[in-house]
Amino acid sequence: MMKILVSDPIHTEGIEILRKAGYEVHENFDLSKDQLKNIIKDYDAIIIRSKTKMTKEIIEAGINLKVIGRAGVGLDNVDKEFAETKGIKVINTPDVSTTSVAELVMGYIISIARHIPQATESLKKGEFEKEKFSGIELAGKTIGIIGTGRIGTAVAKRAKCFEMNVIGYDPYVKYSDTIKMVDFETLLKESDVITVHVPLTDITRHMISNDEIKKMKKGVILVNAARGGIIDEEAVKKGLEDETIGGIALDVFESEKPFRSVLTAYDNFVGTPHTGAQTEEAQKRAGIEVAKKVLEQLNKMKR
Ligand code: MLT
Repeated sequence: MMKILVSDPIHTEGIEILRKAGYEVHENFDLSKDQLKNIIKDYDAIIIRSKTKMTKEIIEAGINLKVIGRAGVGLDNVDKEFAETKGIKVINTPDVSTTSVAELVMGYIISIARHIPQATESLKKGEFEKEKFSGIELAGKTIGIIGTGRIGTAVAKRAKCFEMNVIGYDPYVKYSDTIKMVDFETLLKESDVITVHVPLTDITRHMISNDEIKKMKKGVILVNAARGGIIDEEAVKKGLEDETIGGIALDVFESEKPFRSVLTAYDNFVGTPHTGAQTEEAQKRAGIEVAKKVLEQLNKMKR
């Protein structure tokens, strides 16, 4: 019987689909690198989220591995190129979290514009400081979307409902039906809000750093719910201190495990622990879709 290792938690409906199809499924979370390296040889497929790192070393040890299934979008924790040279199919579920991430991004922008987390904290202390929490409207402001794929486009649609002007830049895409595309410099100079929706690559790492922040409007709101490292946290720290940046919202960090960020100490920081796709709906879609796609691949290989 073919065996599937699920090394990061996925929705129970996904597990049921795999078991009903007659596969032996082992859920084994929080494995150390060495533990995973020792057991991976026993499995035909592995299902992961962002925590398990499918490095060359682990893939090499997976002598029976046929499929790596990533429940989620980002493949930065999988050495896809190497896996494919070994004949291992790598699949992900790129559409499942679009709505959840886009909704979180809008929540961030409104939270910063209206100081919702800070005002909540203040109320909890028994204070009632109306003037201190004066905010700004989003209507008429410009949002610059870096990365105009699925999630960037979903954010654009929602921002338009808030009557924002939407502009976009994408290092790989020059045309969009929904977003007015501009060059990177224009986006940096004209945006009141900048949100990034690109994968982390050698090109996008620190694509927002000191030089880019210097070009931005004073008081700009920055959002990163894509991948830690696209926005340089040290550069943001400087931007908050010299007040170029009016607010920073991060769902993803340069160091998540262990978690460290120089930005949490600042008043105008808002954050969540990588919960962009962490909704009941997105998790259910991811679990079901990854299970179906892994089965499809394993079934093809049985023939
Ligand atoms: C993703 O790439 O799908 C998201 O970052 C969510 C996750 O990995 O849990």
